Amino acid sequence: MPPSAIPEPGVRPSDFRFHCIDCSHLSDSASPDYRCPRCGDLLEISYPEWNKSGISSGVSGVSANDLISTWKQRRLSSAPADLSGVWRFRELLPALNDGHVITLREGNTPLYEMPQCARIVGVPHLFAKHQGMNPTGSFKDAGMTVAASFAHHAGYRWIACASTGNTSASMAAYAARGGMRSLVLVPEGKISWSKLSQALDYAAVTCQLRTDFDGCLRLLQELVLRAPVHQLNSINPFRIEGQKTLAIELMEQMDWQLPDHIIVPGGNLGNSSAIGKALLEMHDLGLISRLPKLSVIQAEGANALVRTLREAGGKQLISVNAETRATAIRIGNPASWKKAVRVLEATGGACEQVSEVEMAQAKAGIGTEGIGCEPASAVTLAGLKKLVKQGFVKAGETVVLILTGNLLKDPDFTIEFHRGDLFAGTPHEGEMIVLSTLRRPPIVLDATLDEVLRTLEQADKTAPSG
Ligand code: F0G
Repeated sequence: MPPSAIPEPGVRPSDFRFHCIDCSHLSDSASPDYRCPRCGDLLEISYPEWNKSGISSGVSGVSANDLISTWKQRRLSSAPADLSGVWRFRELLPALNDGHVITLREGNTPLYEMPQCARIVGVPHLFAKHQGMNPTGSFKDAGMTVAASFAHHAGYRWIACASTGNTSASMAAYAARGGMRSLVLVPEGKISWSKLSQALDYAAVTCQLRTDFDGCLRLLQELVLRAPVHQLNSINPFRIEGQKTLAIELMEQMDWQLPDHIIVPGGNLGNSSAIGKALLEMHDLGLISRLPKLSVIQAEGANALVRTLREAGGKQLISVNAETRATAIRIGNPASWKKAVRVLEATGGACEQVSEVEMAQAKAGIGTEGIGCEPASAVTLAGLKKLVKQGFVKAGETVVLILTGNLLKDPDFTIEFHRGDLFAGTPHEGEMIVLSTLRRPPIVLDATLDEVLRTLEQADKTAPSG
């Protein structure tokens, strides 16, 4: 039997504590459901040793400049933990002996300039940090390396998650790398085959439950109290710690010149919470001098956070019955809504929603940059368009979109879009006309040179549009 609580790990056992986000209760261990023993709210990891002048390590304090140069130095190292774009920033993570780290060389994701999208949207400097370039194709790997390593260190044999696709693929991969078993709960018929196939190949026990993502997560929460499995959804605060590193790596890639805005898709709201936590911690530690505004974009059909803020002032969650073609964010009852509300307030960010058509248009626009992403990630560009129109993003400001997942995740969406039948039979059918210049359907021809030459000539007359 594995332990029922996460013991203090690693060589510096006192370097972090579990902190309740609501009643502020502090503890050295957490129960398997990662809920506060006093009030039942979510936990986050806090670092009592940190102070404003840097991280105290034994007798000597470490300054922000020391950290920046240490992280840069590690780029030259070939040690597995240094090759990870997550563990390279380990001073801002819970301490763990290098020997316990389970890594697939996650992180180290590219930051791309997006000149065509910038022109269309009307901002001078637009970048995309592509988390879909992680080993299993999504941002989940950054959190998973940390959560899986701690689960392994604590002696768990089984790890489990509920998922809309990416979490399951990522968790199954890290479980396999670390020699653990994995249990995946996914909504039947509502996740992409490409993700399901990853979980299967990485040897997960994969259960397709006749419910939605929210139903899978509810069941998992009950399961971890009854069975010796350790849950790796983003309720697990170790996941949040790993996902923080995308923001640290982003600042490093921008040479510590801050963007004005960071825009991220919102589903279960773990990622926005993680990025916000990283920004606040970097600010506290003197690594950055001000806070970029962190904004969250949701699909109109899965807009729990938008409604929570607009209709309840962010005080209580308004759940929704989620429906969107962006499978990753088809979530109606986001677990980390309170954390997300707080980071939006702390950074001054906005929360917007976009329609299915706006999302599809944005996805094709990102594709024309040669980058590509999954539909859920494209809500960031669609949301940016709205934020520019509203004047929230101002002329001259620098914006970074967080592309969370890979183009190969939802191929049906992309193919139906280009064939023109993405919205067939839906209320959006009539709106397809605005997308026609972006569509490039495959062309079936007889296998003759003439046919191909004629097609090439015709295509050459029509300039590609973005
Ligand atoms: N983008 C992608 C590609 C995702 O897979 C997810 C969530 C999100 C955005 C939303 O992030 O939940 O942290 O707000 N995917 C989940 C999964 C929940 O199971 O893979 P969030």
